[in-house]
Amino acid sequence: RKPVTLLKLREMHASGEKIAMLTGYDATFGKVLDDCGVDCILVGDSLGMVLQGHTSTLPVTLEHMAYHVQCVARANRTAWLIGDLPYGSYHEDVQQAYRSSCALMQAGAQMVKLEGGGWTAPVVEFLVARGIPVCAHVGLTPQSVHALGGYRVQGRDDAGASRLRQECKDLQNAGATLCVFEMVPAALATELTAELKHMATIGIGAGRNCAGQVLVLHDMLGITPFKLPRFVRNFMDGAPSVQEAIRRYVAAVKDGSFPDDAVHAY
Ligand code: KIV
Ligand code: NA
Repeated sequence: RKPVTLLKLREMHASGEKIAMLTGYDATFGKVLDDCGVDCILVGDSLGMVLQGHTSTLPVTLEHMAYHVQCVARANRTAWLIGDLPYGSYHEDVQQAYRSSCALMQAGAQMVKLEGGGWTAPVVEFLVARGIPVCAHVGLTPQSVHALGGYRVQGRDDAGASRLRQECKDLQNAGATLCVFEMVPAALATELTAELKHMATIGIGAGRNCAGQVLVLHDMLGITPFKLPRFVRNFMDGAPSVQEAIRRYVAAVKDGSFPDDAVHAY
């Protein structure tokens, strides 16, 4: 297939074709994910948990992230490659955010992802103006786990919902192309996805009506040794190979059969 570009992602969003994203952290899986038709590979700071064995993403550094982006970039040919800005690497000011983004772009990322609502809009605008595509991340933002009081659903009450709506408007206006919705009630994610014409929502525990979906690779392969959140499906169930499990994930996202809101949503 032809390389996935920012233009292609915008076209998919406009035409209603679902965007299938998975995390990936190394060259072997980078190649497998690309070969199996994943649209976007996210080198997520979830590597702090699934690769490094920490209980949160807070210990992950920019050097760790750049190293894993390099590993995936060497093997990936056509998937859109997103590098996750880790804890503390974009919070000081826009200059720090730009420097950190440069490190990931030079490592081979085509887009950076950062967590947070309204306060990140000026950061997004600064990066986009300088030619760096951005994926935002709202709802449950794991780098703020201690402030949020745990890994819990966000935007459940009216105040939370209207805060999330405003954050999304600000991030879209700032020029974010994608926005991860993590643990957002399906009904709210459905409304916001319909409202946001220029920013594609990528759900993880946010219901089936998002513009795309993402899961942590090790979770959807059923090899994560912890209790999994309800929004995960084990695609190795009944699959003859890892490659087939990943192909089935892509197919299920594209045809809307994953996630199933009766099982995987809030
Ligand atoms: O780090 C990560 O893997 C993520 C996804 C779960 C969206 O941020
Ligand atoms: Na992340």
